[in-house]
Amino acid sequence: MPVAFRIRRATLADLPVLVALERRAFTTDHLSPRQYRHHLTNPRALVLAAVDRGGLLGKAVALFRKDSDIARLYSIAVDDAARGRGIAKALLRAVERGARARGCTRMRLEVAQKNAGAIALYERLGYRRFGAYACFYEDGTDAWRYEKTLRAEKSTSRSP
Ligand SMILES: CC(C)(COP(=O)(O)OP(=O)(O)OC[C@H]1O[C@@H](n2cnc3c(N)ncnc32)[C@H](O)[C@@H]1OP(=O)(O)O)[C@@H](O)C(=O)NCCC(=O)NCCS
Repeated sequence: MPVAFRIRRATLADLPVLVALERRAFTTDHLSPRQYRHHLTNPRALVLAAVDRGGLLGKAVALFRKDSDIARLYSIAVDDAARGRGIAKALLRAVERGARARGCTRMRLEVAQKNAGAIALYERLGYRRFGAYACFYEDGTDAWRYEKTLRAEKSTSRSP
C-alpha cells in the first residue's frame, strides 16, 4: 500500500503546528516561533512539511548562504507516532532536491553524537562524517558533522 503522506512547502499558517512538533520532538535547542517565522519568509531558507489528512507529520528546515554551494540541513523531525514510515527519508530527499535546484553541490548537517536513529538515517542516505563540534548543543552534547555530495538526479521530480 502506498504511504499516504505528501511533502509541501510550509507556510506561515503552519507556524503553530511546526512549533508544537518542535517541542514534542526535541528536548533542547528548540527553534522558536520567531525563528520559524523568519525561516518561513526568508528566501535563503526552505521549510518543508510532511502532511496527511490529519495534519503535520514531520518537517525539515534547510538554509542556504549567498555565494556558497553548501546547503545546511538545520532541522528535521517526525512526530513520534509517524516514525518508521520513511517520512524523514522523503523530507531529506526533498530538501536535497531543493538544494540542487538552488545550485548547491553539497549538504552539511550536525547531529548529536548520541542520536543513533538520526545518524542511521543520514548514513543510509549517503552522508559521510567529516568532523565534530564539542559542546554544540545547549545541553553540552557533542555533535558530529556530516556531508553529502549532491549529484545530479536521474528522476524528473520537481523540487519544492
Ligand atoms: C530521526 C527521525 C527524523 C527519523 O524519522 P523517521 O521518519 O522515523 O525516519 P524514516 O522512517 O524515514 O527512516 C529512514 C531510515 O533512517 C534509519 N532510521 C530512522 N530512524 C531510525 C532509528 N530510530 N533507528 C535506526 N535507524 C533509523 C533507517 O535506516 C531508515 O531506513 P529503512 O527504514 O530503510 O531501514 C525521527 O526519529 C525524529 O524525529 N527524531 C527526533 C528528532 C531528531 O532527532 N531529529 C534529528 C536531529 S539531527
